[in-house]
Amino acid sequence: MSPRVVRTITDCRAALAGLRAGRRVAFVPTMGALHEGHLSLVDLARTKADVVVVSVFVNPAQFAPGEDFERYPRDLERDVRLLARRGATLVFAPEVEEMYPEPLLTRVAMHGITDDLEGARRPGHFDGVLTVVAKLFHIIEPEVAVFGQKDAQQAAAIRRMVADLDFPVEIVVGATARDPDGLALSSRNAYLSEAERREALALRSALGRAESLAAEGVADAAPLLAAMREELSRHPGIDVDYVALVERDTFRPVDRLTSPAVAAVAARIGGTRLIDNVVIEPHAG
Ligand code: PAJ
Repeated sequence: MSPRVVRTITDCRAALAGLRAGRRVAFVPTMGALHEGHLSLVDLARTKADVVVVSVFVNPAQFAPGEDFERYPRDLERDVRLLARRGATLVFAPEVEEMYPEPLLTRVAMHGITDDLEGARRPGHFDGVLTVVAKLFHIIEPEVAVFGQKDAQQAAAIRRMVADLDFPVEIVVGATARDPDGLALSSRNAYLSEAERREALALRSALGRAESLAAEGVADAAPLLAAMREELSRHPGIDVDYVALVERDTFRPVDRLTSPAVAAVAARIGGTRLIDNVVIEPHAG
């Protein structure tokens, strides 16, 4: 069955008032151009609640000047078709004017978790993400919201915002969906040529190097980071932005693996910026 599509906050709230009737609501925020990664989060949401709401909104507040806001892929009809197959109940797809009728004078601002990595490279990005997610949480009032590990720093920031600001919502994080060759699914993969896509596999193989070294017992961050850099440097088409090993919740750099940590990479391939990460477990024993 096709999900109902609503374009305004009023219609979204009215639709939910009818749907809710004591049932749990799960929410999956997206910017559309849906792929199996997003859809796997919808599947996960369905295991958590009876009503699944998906938002499709390319949020201008989280794009820095010069980023790809204008050319970000948009195809709502296709997104709704895909969501129908996965049993989403309601799609909230507002226009920019609906979400931001006036310039924002109020924002959610975070420090710490969002200072480095994506936060350092994309000024204002996380405040834009947190602000729109806070607005969406107020509009939809879900019991559960599902995010992807693909954007690990975003997931950590949202968990912290929910704790700091007492949002009554449980945050669930779904695993990163990958193509069979290991490339993390991303709406931005659509920008890659065939040759660039092959180069992009180096992100996953760099993370794999760190994983296997850690499994062999290497615990110091320095050799793990060096191995990732070395793997990436074999691909001249890849312009490395960062490699990092950080704590899962705080995103502070880790010197030595003592508990599970996030190994993260960001790189440019041609004009496209891609990110990926894995959780690395310390060697048992
Ligand atoms: P978007 O990039 O569309 O991603 C929507 C959700 O899908 C995020 O939680 C993201 O982590 C998850 N996701 C993306 N690729 C994935 C993959 N390969 N496997 C699993 N999950 C994946 O992230 C955003 O939109 C925005 O910042 C948003 C939270 C919607 C706020 O505007």
